[in-house]
Amino acid sequence: MLTVCKDCHGKNLSGQEMLNAPAIAGQSLLYLTRQIAKFRNGSRGKHKDDSTGQQMASIAITLNDPESLLEVNQYISRLTFIEEVTNLNTTKATASISQLRLGSNYYQAKCGACHGGNAQGNDKMLAPRLNHLSPTYLLKQMANFSNATRGGGSDDKYGRQMAMMAKISAGQELDNIIMFINSLTNKIIVSDDNE
Ligand code: HEC
Ligand code: HEC
Repeated sequence: MLTVCKDCHGKNLSGQEMLNAPAIAGQSLLYLTRQIAKFRNGSRGKHKDDSTGQQMASIAITLNDPESLLEVNQYISRLTFIEEVTNLNTTKATASISQLRLGSNYYQAKCGACHGGNAQGNDKMLAPRLNHLSPTYLLKQMANFSNATRGGGSDDKYGRQMAMMAKISAGQELDNIIMFINSLTNKIIVSDDNE
């Protein structure tokens, strides 16, 4: 089962930008299990505009052995995030120190209570880890939540909760938040303010 996952999510399961497959290494077991269940029952990855979600949903419906799925998810949740070689060629975004400071303030005010001070996730709030996810994936998911491509279903309580939150931040403010989240795992380049 695991080799299938690596085809898209990368050798280290730390995401492959080219295939739009996010990092899943080190994500919480609870979240992994819940998202795969959602892909299977159609509360995620069913919207007509969600082509990447549909891709994952078509894999999820083949995962019919609960025991191996649990083992795979347990294994993935214990992995450490290691940047995939295939992602090293993608140009890293640059953020200035003042952008990061703003991003940090907005993040702590609007996201940190659920996702944790270092975006490490918090199972008690059912909020996933974010600091291993790429800027592109984060932006895309925020847009998906905002326009109900994700989290719009009446049976998707936590998706709906996050969909409400996605509407409280946009534009430059959201860019700064995402820069801040990615600075926690060195996924961006930090520049001086005067450059
Ligand atoms: C054909 C490519 C492909 C394969 C194979 C694949 N995935 Fe995915 N997966 C994706 C894509 C693309 C997404 C992003 C979906 C989206 O945009 O919402 C995704 C999303 C996910 C998510 C949600 C991550 C998050 O942060 O919300 C989980 C969990 C996941 N995959 C687990 C797995 C597991 C476990 C396997 C192996 C059994 C697997 N995937 C195999 C392409 C794939
Ligand atoms: C009230 C708690 C709460 C707050 C506040 C909150 N979130 Fe979330 N967030 C969640 C929950 C719960 C989920 C999981 C939704 C699901 O199950 O699909 C989530 C999911 C996400 C995801 C999807 C991650 C993935 O792996 O696909 C992103 C991105 C995200 N949140 C970003 C943010 C940002 C940025 C903010 C601040 C602007 C924020 N969240 C504020 C609870 C919250």
